[in-house]
Amino acid sequence: MLIGIDLGTSTCKVIAVNGSGEVIAKQSRDYPMINLRQGWAEQDPAEWWRATDEAITALTASLPQSGREITGIGLCGQMHGLTALDAEGKPLRHAILWNDQRAAPQCDWITERAGGLAELLRMTRNRMLPGFTGGKIIWFRENEPELFERTARILNPKDYLRLRMTGTYVTDVSDTSGTGLFDVAHRCWSDELLQLLDIDRALLPDVVESVDQTGQVLPELARRWNVPEGTPVFGGGGDAVIQTTAMGLIDAGPVGFTIGTAGIVAGGAASCPDNPGGRVQVSCGNAPGRWHVMGVSLSAGGAFQWLRDALAPVTTTDPISFDKLVGLAKAVEPGCNGLLFLPYLLGERSPHVAPEAAASWVGLTPMHHVGHLARSVMEGVLLNMREILEVCRQAGLDCDRVVASGGATTESLWLQMLADVLGRETTTVTGSSEGGAYGAALAAGVGTGQWRDFDEALAGVSVERTFIPRQATAQTYDRIFRTHRRLYDELKPLYQ
Ligand code: XUL
Repeated sequence: MLIGIDLGTSTCKVIAVNGSGEVIAKQSRDYPMINLRQGWAEQDPAEWWRATDEAITALTASLPQSGREITGIGLCGQMHGLTALDAEGKPLRHAILWNDQRAAPQCDWITERAGGLAELLRMTRNRMLPGFTGGKIIWFRENEPELFERTARILNPKDYLRLRMTGTYVTDVSDTSGTGLFDVAHRCWSDELLQLLDIDRALLPDVVESVDQTGQVLPELARRWNVPEGTPVFGGGGDAVIQTTAMGLIDAGPVGFTIGTAGIVAGGAASCPDNPGGRVQVSCGNAPGRWHVMGVSLSAGGAFQWLRDALAPVTTTDPISFDKLVGLAKAVEPGCNGLLFLPYLLGERSPHVAPEAAASWVGLTPMHHVGHLARSVMEGVLLNMREILEVCRQAGLDCDRVVASGGATTESLWLQMLADVLGRETTTVTGSSEGGAYGAALAAGVGTGQWRDFDEALAGVSVERTFIPRQATAQTYDRIFRTHRRLYDELKPLYQ
């Protein structure tokens, strides 16, 4: 029996997976986001640990042998966060998260120091995006020099859990790809870039493959969780990468569309793509010797949630449920009678690298009602993801099949709309609803030798639901897509 841990942006989810790859128990615990300023997003690492510890304690207590049957643990989590630790491994400040935009100027500085975008891409295969860890390190050094001076280690979020669990400072190749300091083609830190930026390599953790063992659960924790002494903990991965793995997408061909808070379009590659212009994110894959290409939109399900909260937050006496909002959207004709929505509520990362962008509705008239607002947000999110697919294809990602996952896909309207917007058959697969936690458990299972490799571990993944595009609706969306993709350029001069 394996445990997969997913340290998400609002929740830590833990699952137990048996030898046949079935999820037999799960638990989750939440923690708050700390937004001190517009564009900033932080969390307290102590809260991550509290949530993880509580969730694992409850999970193992619910298992048939109360945890004694656990053979390995895999970790995954939100990528790109900066967790700064002192020499004793204690957090020096709140972690700065993936969706924090404060380091945009430092990213420009890094690109300049590297000798321009083409040089940076040669060293890392990635543009230094404002969410990435690299820009945050420079921001930290410039703005909080006393704390930076006391920093002994910098870890990504899930690797802070690993430190608490095993006492080791280790990360994996997929998560590290999202620091922007990693030579993704050669699967190692870019010493060349670290030197140019004057970042001491000793601040950064050692890097292993996702399936490699990184340590063992510390004795006092093993006792508390009732797992066998010496239970091994494996590399795991960055959530956006390993959830694609969990969908069975480690080879070129099928493309995953994940509609969570963010919207992710991603697929596997047998060699490391060049990423001309740096318009996509290129990562090491979780399977050794494979790579991963993705484009990430910062507001997907998050935009729908914003709309629900703006109309009537759950805290009011008369909240609007997601079901009700989806029902209202369903009653509206595709295309929303000319109403279009651009979902750049948090700025954007893909299809446009535009931290300064803002969301908008275009085409509002008095005949539009709340159902149109809801449907246009869904359509705008998916049209944006179609545009990301185009960008990924220009970077060499094939697309012969579409697999959908993410919180929003429990609702069939999102899935049918995705099939219609893309004009392609769209499926969901088993295991994908568990997202990154499932991939983390599979990485642990490959690591323990339960499965020979990811190909064998993923053999049990099968199609759950299939959505066929409806021809007339797909034609409507083709027409709207042509207008939608012009809007960013038209509105760009208004963004500051
Ligand atoms: C991936 C990304 C998000 C975060 C949070 O590049 O920014 O998926 O990892 O989930």
